[in-house]
Amino acid sequence: MEKRDEAGEYHSKDFEWEFLQNIVENDPSLSHHLHHHQDFSKYSPNSQPWQDFHSRHSSGKFFKERRYLLKEFPELVSCGENSKLLEIGCGNGSTVLPILRGSKNITVYACDCSSEALVRTKENIDRAIDLVDNFRSFCCDFSTSEFPDWMACDHCRDKFMVNHSEGSESKHCIGGVDFVTLIFTLSAVPKERMPRAIKECFSVLKPGGLLLFRDYGNC
Ligand SMILES: C[S@@+](CC[C@H](N)C(=O)[O-])C[C@H]1O[C@@H](n2cnc3c(N)ncnc32)[C@H](O)[C@@H]1O
Repeated sequence: MEKRDEAGEYHSKDFEWEFLQNIVENDPSLSHHLHHHQDFSKYSPNSQPWQDFHSRHSSGKFFKERRYLLKEFPELVSCGENSKLLEIGCGNGSTVLPILRGSKNITVYACDCSSEALVRTKENIDRAIDLVDNFRSFCCDFSTSEFPDWMACDHCRDKFMVNHSEGSESKHCIGGVDFVTLIFTLSAVPKERMPRAIKECFSVLKPGGLLLFRDYGNC
Protein backbone atom coordinates (compact mmCIF):
# COMPACT_ATOMS: atom_id res chain seq x y z
CA MET A 1 0.00 0.00 0.00
CA GLU A 2 1.27 3.53 -0.81
CA LYS A 3 2.35 5.56 2.23
CA ARG A 4 -0.43 8.10 1.64
CA ASP A 5 -3.09 5.40 1.46
CA GLU A 6 -1.70 3.77 4.59
CA ALA A 7 -2.00 7.06 6.48
CA GLY A 8 -5.53 7.55 5.17
CA GLU A 9 -6.49 4.05 6.27
CA TYR A 10 -5.00 4.65 9.73
CA HIS A 11 -6.72 7.97 10.40
CA SER A 12 -10.01 6.84 8.90
CA LYS A 13 -10.60 4.71 11.99
CA ASP A 14 -10.78 7.64 14.40
CA PHE A 15 -14.08 9.19 13.32
CA GLU A 16 -16.73 8.96 10.65
CA TRP A 17 -15.04 11.92 9.01
CA GLU A 18 -17.79 13.00 6.61
CA PHE A 19 -20.39 12.89 9.36
CA LEU A 20 -18.09 14.95 11.60
CA GLN A 21 -17.35 17.47 8.83
CA ASN A 22 -21.05 17.94 8.23
CA ILE A 23 -21.70 18.64 11.90
CA VAL A 24 -18.82 21.08 12.34
CA GLU A 25 -19.67 23.02 9.18
CA ASN A 26 -23.30 23.39 10.19
CA ASP A 27 -22.88 24.25 13.86
CA PRO A 28 -21.95 27.90 14.49
CA SER A 29 -20.71 27.11 18.00
CA LEU A 30 -17.99 24.92 16.48
CA SER A 31 -16.93 27.40 13.81
CA HIS A 32 -13.58 28.11 15.51
CA HIS A 33 -12.41 24.79 14.06
CA LEU A 34 -12.78 26.28 10.56
CA HIS A 35 -11.41 29.82 10.93
CA HIS A 36 -7.84 29.84 12.07
CA HIS A 37 -7.34 33.58 12.46
CA GLN A 38 -10.36 34.28 14.58
CA ASP A 39 -10.32 36.29 17.81
CA PHE A 40 -11.04 33.63 20.40
CA SER A 41 -11.34 36.10 23.27
CA LYS A 42 -14.95 36.72 22.29
CA TYR A 43 -15.87 33.08 23.04
CA SER A 44 -17.35 32.58 26.45
CA PRO A 45 -15.26 30.28 28.57
CA ASN A 46 -18.21 28.08 29.42
CA SER A 47 -18.71 24.70 27.89
CA GLN A 48 -22.29 25.04 26.69
CA PRO A 49 -21.51 24.31 23.02
CA TRP A 50 -19.99 20.95 23.98
CA GLN A 51 -22.87 20.21 26.34
CA ASP A 52 -25.29 20.91 23.46
CA PHE A 53 -23.16 18.84 21.11
CA HIS A 54 -23.21 15.78 23.39
CA SER A 55 -26.93 16.17 24.09
CA ARG A 56 -27.69 16.33 20.38
CA HIS A 57 -25.47 13.39 19.48
CA SER A 58 -26.33 10.97 22.22
CA SER A 59 -26.79 8.05 19.84
CA GLY A 60 -23.22 6.85 20.27
CA LYS A 61 -22.34 7.56 16.65
CA PHE A 62 -19.17 9.21 17.91
CA PHE A 63 -18.22 6.26 20.02
CA LYS A 64 -15.39 4.37 18.37
CA GLU A 65 -13.15 2.44 20.66
CA ARG A 66 -9.57 3.49 19.87
CA ARG A 67 -8.07 0.03 20.03
CA TYR A 68 -4.77 1.20 18.53
CA LEU A 69 -3.93 3.34 21.58
CA LEU A 70 -2.23 0.60 23.56
CA LYS A 71 -0.02 -0.18 20.54
CA GLU A 72 0.69 3.50 19.96
CA PHE A 73 1.50 4.07 23.62
CA PRO A 74 2.96 0.79 24.95
CA GLU A 75 3.88 2.54 28.22
CA LEU A 76 0.21 2.14 29.12
CA VAL A 77 0.67 -1.62 29.14
CA SER A 78 4.15 -1.88 30.64
CA CYS A 79 3.51 0.52 33.52
CA GLY A 80 3.71 -0.68 37.11
CA GLU A 81 0.86 -1.53 39.44
CA ASN A 82 -1.15 1.35 40.88
CA SER A 83 -0.41 3.65 37.96
CA LYS A 84 -2.83 6.51 37.49
CA LEU A 85 -4.04 8.13 34.27
CA LEU A 86 -6.08 11.25 33.62
CA GLU A 87 -7.98 11.33 30.29
CA ILE A 88 -8.97 14.94 29.57
CA GLY A 89 -11.98 15.52 27.35
CA CYS A 90 -13.18 11.92 27.57
CA GLY A 91 -16.16 12.45 25.22
CA ASN A 92 -18.02 9.16 24.88
CA GLY A 93 -15.24 7.09 26.38
CA SER A 94 -13.53 6.04 23.14
CA THR A 95 -10.10 6.38 24.78
CA VAL A 96 -10.99 5.36 28.32
CA LEU A 97 -12.53 2.05 27.38
CA PRO A 98 -9.57 0.35 25.63
CA ILE A 99 -7.30 1.50 28.45
CA LEU A 100 -9.59 0.03 31.10
CA ARG A 101 -9.79 -3.22 29.14
CA GLY A 102 -6.10 -3.53 28.37
CA SER A 103 -4.27 -2.11 31.37
CA LYS A 104 -5.31 -3.74 34.59
CA ASN A 105 -2.62 -1.81 36.50
CA ILE A 106 -4.08 1.60 35.77
CA THR A 107 -6.70 3.55 37.63
CA VAL A 108 -8.37 5.84 35.12
CA TYR A 109 -9.64 9.31 35.98
CA ALA A 110 -11.63 11.01 33.24
CA CYS A 111 -12.90 14.54 32.92
CA ASP A 112 -14.85 16.52 30.39
CA CYS A 113 -16.26 20.03 30.35
CA SER A 114 -19.63 18.48 29.48
CA SER A 115 -21.56 16.56 32.13
CA GLU A 116 -23.51 14.95 29.28
CA ALA A 117 -20.26 13.44 27.95
CA LEU A 118 -19.53 11.94 31.36
CA VAL A 119 -22.92 10.23 31.34
CA ARG A 120 -22.20 8.78 27.85
CA THR A 121 -18.81 7.53 28.98
CA LYS A 122 -20.25 5.80 32.03
CA GLU A 123 -22.99 4.18 29.92
CA ASN A 124 -20.45 2.87 27.42
CA ILE A 125 -18.20 1.48 30.14
CA ASP A 126 -21.10 -0.21 31.95
CA ARG A 127 -22.21 -1.75 28.66
CA ALA A 128 -18.74 -3.10 27.86
CA ILE A 129 -17.14 -4.13 31.15
CA ASP A 130 -18.74 -6.18 33.92
CA LEU A 131 -17.17 -4.83 37.07
CA VAL A 132 -15.18 -1.61 37.09
CA ASP A 133 -13.61 -0.39 40.30
CA ASN A 134 -10.72 1.56 38.79
CA PHE A 135 -12.60 4.40 37.11
CA ARG A 136 -13.69 7.82 38.35
CA SER A 137 -14.97 10.82 36.39
CA PHE A 138 -15.54 14.50 37.07
CA CYS A 139 -16.58 17.65 35.25
CA CYS A 140 -13.83 20.17 34.48
CA ASP A 141 -12.93 22.70 31.80
CA PHE A 142 -9.15 22.46 32.00
CA SER A 143 -8.65 25.59 29.91
CA THR A 144 -10.29 27.81 32.51
CA SER A 145 -10.21 25.85 35.80
CA GLU A 146 -7.76 23.96 37.94
CA PHE A 147 -8.07 20.23 38.39
CA PRO A 148 -9.60 19.37 41.76
CA ASP A 149 -7.43 19.33 44.87
CA TRP A 150 -8.05 15.64 45.45
CA MET A 151 -6.05 14.98 42.28
CA ALA A 152 -2.98 16.89 43.44
CA CYS A 153 -3.01 19.17 46.46
CA ASP A 154 -1.00 22.42 46.55
CA HIS A 155 1.79 20.67 48.39
CA CYS A 156 2.16 18.02 45.64
CA ARG A 157 1.85 20.59 42.83
CA ASP A 158 4.65 22.66 44.36
CA LYS A 159 6.83 19.60 44.60
CA PHE A 160 6.18 18.64 40.95
CA MET A 161 6.92 22.13 39.67
CA VAL A 162 9.76 23.25 41.87
CA ASN A 163 11.55 20.25 43.32
CA HIS A 164 10.68 17.74 40.61
CA SER A 165 10.10 15.25 43.40
CA GLU A 166 7.16 12.90 43.84
CA GLY A 167 4.08 13.86 45.78
CA SER A 168 2.48 11.22 47.89
CA GLU A 169 -0.96 9.72 48.12
CA SER A 170 -2.72 10.85 51.28
CA LYS A 171 -6.26 11.03 52.53
CA HIS A 172 -6.42 14.51 50.93
CA CYS A 173 -5.14 13.74 47.44
CA ILE A 174 -4.07 10.91 45.13
CA GLY A 175 -0.59 12.44 44.68
CA GLY A 176 -0.88 13.27 40.97
CA VAL A 177 -0.98 10.99 37.94
CA ASP A 178 1.55 9.04 35.86
CA PHE A 179 -0.16 9.72 32.52
CA VAL A 180 -2.27 12.48 31.06
CA THR A 181 -4.01 11.75 27.76
CA LEU A 182 -5.31 14.40 25.37
CA ILE A 183 -6.84 12.46 22.50
CA PHE A 184 -8.47 14.84 20.01
CA THR A 185 -9.05 17.31 22.85
CA LEU A 186 -6.31 19.90 22.46
CA SER A 187 -7.72 21.01 19.10
CA ALA A 188 -10.96 21.85 20.92
CA VAL A 189 -9.17 24.41 23.07
CA PRO A 190 -8.91 27.93 21.63
CA LYS A 191 -5.26 28.72 20.87
CA GLU A 192 -5.04 31.56 23.36
CA ARG A 193 -5.99 29.22 26.21
CA MET A 194 -3.66 26.39 25.20
CA PRO A 195 -0.60 27.45 27.24
CA ARG A 196 -2.68 27.68 30.42
CA ALA A 197 -4.34 24.34 29.69
CA ILE A 198 -1.03 22.54 29.07
CA LYS A 199 0.44 24.05 32.23
CA GLU A 200 -2.53 22.70 34.17
CA CYS A 201 -1.83 19.21 32.78
CA PHE A 202 1.75 19.35 34.02
CA SER A 203 0.68 20.59 37.42
CA VAL A 204 -0.92 17.20 38.18
CA LEU A 205 1.61 15.05 36.30
CA LYS A 206 4.18 13.34 38.52
CA PRO A 207 7.83 14.00 37.69
CA GLY A 208 8.79 11.63 34.86
CA GLY A 209 5.13 11.16 33.96
CA LEU A 210 3.98 11.23 30.33
CA LEU A 211 1.57 13.50 28.51
CA LEU A 212 0.27 11.45 25.58
CA PHE A 213 -1.61 13.24 22.83
CA ARG A 214 -3.08 12.69 19.41
CA ASP A 215 -4.82 15.29 17.29
CA TYR A 216 -5.37 16.79 13.89
CA GLY A 217 -4.56 20.25 12.64
CA ASN A 218 -3.03 22.23 9.81
CA CYS A 219 0.67 21.73 9.06
C1 LIG B 1 -13.30 15.20 19.92
S1 LIG B 1 -13.80 14.81 21.55
C2 LIG B 1 -12.56 13.59 22.01
C3 LIG B 1 -13.10 12.61 23.01
C4 LIG B 1 -12.14 11.52 23.48
N1 LIG B 1 -10.91 12.02 24.01
C5 LIG B 1 -11.88 10.50 22.41
O1 LIG B 1 -10.80 9.92 22.37
O2 LIG B 1 -12.80 10.24 21.63
C6 LIG B 1 -13.28 16.23 22.50
C7 LIG B 1 -13.87 16.23 23.90
O3 LIG B 1 -13.24 17.24 24.68
C8 LIG B 1 -14.21 17.90 25.46
N2 LIG B 1 -13.68 19.24 25.71
C9 LIG B 1 -13.58 20.28 24.85
N3 LIG B 1 -12.99 21.33 25.43
C10 LIG B 1 -12.71 20.95 26.71
C11 LIG B 1 -12.12 21.61 27.82
N4 LIG B 1 -11.68 22.88 27.73
N5 LIG B 1 -11.99 20.94 29.00
C12 LIG B 1 -12.43 19.66 29.10
N6 LIG B 1 -13.00 18.99 28.07
C13 LIG B 1 -13.14 19.62 26.89
C14 LIG B 1 -15.49 17.87 24.63
O4 LIG B 1 -16.67 17.95 25.40
C15 LIG B 1 -15.35 16.51 23.94
O5 LIG B 1 -16.01 15.51 24.68
